[in-house]
Amino acid sequence: MAYDLSTTFTGLKFVNPFILASAPPTESKRKILKAFESGWGGVVTKTIGLHPVENVAGPKTIFQRTSEQKPYVSRNKRPDTVSHSSWNWELISDQALELWLPDLEEIKTTFPDRMLIASIMAGAGGETEMNNWRKLARACVDVGCDALELNLSCPHMDRKDMGANIANDEDIIRSILAAVTDEVSVPIWVKLTPATSTLVDAAGAAYEAGAASISLCNTFPSLPLMDPETLQFEVEVDGLVTSGGLGGLAILHQALQRVSDISKAYPDKAISGIGGIRGFREAFNFIAHGAGTLQVCTAAMEEKGSGGVGVKLIKELNEDLGDYLSRKGHASLEEFRGIARNRIVEHSQVRRKSDAYNGGYAKSA
Ligand SMILES: Cc1cc2nc3c(=O)[nH]c(=O)nc-3n(C[C@H](O)[C@H](O)[C@H](O)COP(=O)(O)O)c2cc1C
Repeated sequence: MAYDLSTTFTGLKFVNPFILASAPPTESKRKILKAFESGWGGVVTKTIGLHPVENVAGPKTIFQRTSEQKPYVSRNKRPDTVSHSSWNWELISDQALELWLPDLEEIKTTFPDRMLIASIMAGAGGETEMNNWRKLARACVDVGCDALELNLSCPHMDRKDMGANIANDEDIIRSILAAVTDEVSVPIWVKLTPATSTLVDAAGAAYEAGAASISLCNTFPSLPLMDPETLQFEVEVDGLVTSGGLGGLAILHQALQRVSDISKAYPDKAISGIGGIRGFREAFNFIAHGAGTLQVCTAAMEEKGSGGVGVKLIKELNEDLGDYLSRKGHASLEEFRGIARNRIVEHSQVRRKSDAYNGGYAKSA
């Protein structure tokens, strides 16, 4: 049966559903052009902002590996290890908006059939910051970006009015969306943090205020490990560290659960799934829970010889999705998108060994 890897998501036609997430793989024109040459259906740029950005005076990202040998999870190079996670405390792009704009225009002109999504970030709490959102949105759309992803999820911000620090606040989410949707008419994706107990409410507020899609997940707030012998953290500056973000395989199951929660609450709305995708099996799971596109970061960064854009990875993802569609007789991924949704139920709805069990409550007399 003929299959089609293309998919329409938030009104945009993707040649395949695989997108490089906002991160180092999409931090420059050179990398994005290479990503598109390699076959990615879309990219979300490294987040662009207007405030000053200066990264820590040390490594910004580490890749942690695991093995049967001690130490179990570590960045230390050892034989016979497999990827466990990335940990980073990198800030948003330090390239100024003015420098991004001609690059974005050239990228879009060179690859008109690929989707270019600009990730943008400003603050909250006043008209000045709302104007910053408007300025970023207008500028990126004017040079040809197909959609915007609002970064309401960076887990390591100094400023209290930015990133994950504001993702709990539904009024702020609504005010940012009002500013951006007033300014531009392209689809607006909202990237939320998984680190909140009110994620579904935050997603609901965003959809209601005009978000075309939720992107989930950004990295999970976390700490790097300390070596018991040296008493050094695996990444630190002058002996100090702060909360950073965990990505890669280690967050896959948690990311799926967050996507499932939103997909169940808003089955008709779009979700872009992110977190731990290394190949088709992980991508499949996000689609099964309702995601319409898949974003990848850590696995692309880890691919040696690819310049950090996952050249082999995108080839395999496309081939393996195509192979699956063809073996299962599906014309497109829409035929299995969301198939897991209704099989995720309340604990009490799962059958017990006996009928006598009453959900942990004593039976009433
Ligand atoms: C080094 C690094 C930098 C990142 N920078 C950004 C960023 O600027 N904006 C953003 O929205 N997400 C950023 N992310 C998060 C990724 O886009 C992605 O949501 C996360 O890594 C989970 O995907 P993964 O498991 O495939 O890595 C960054 C991730 C890493 C590892």
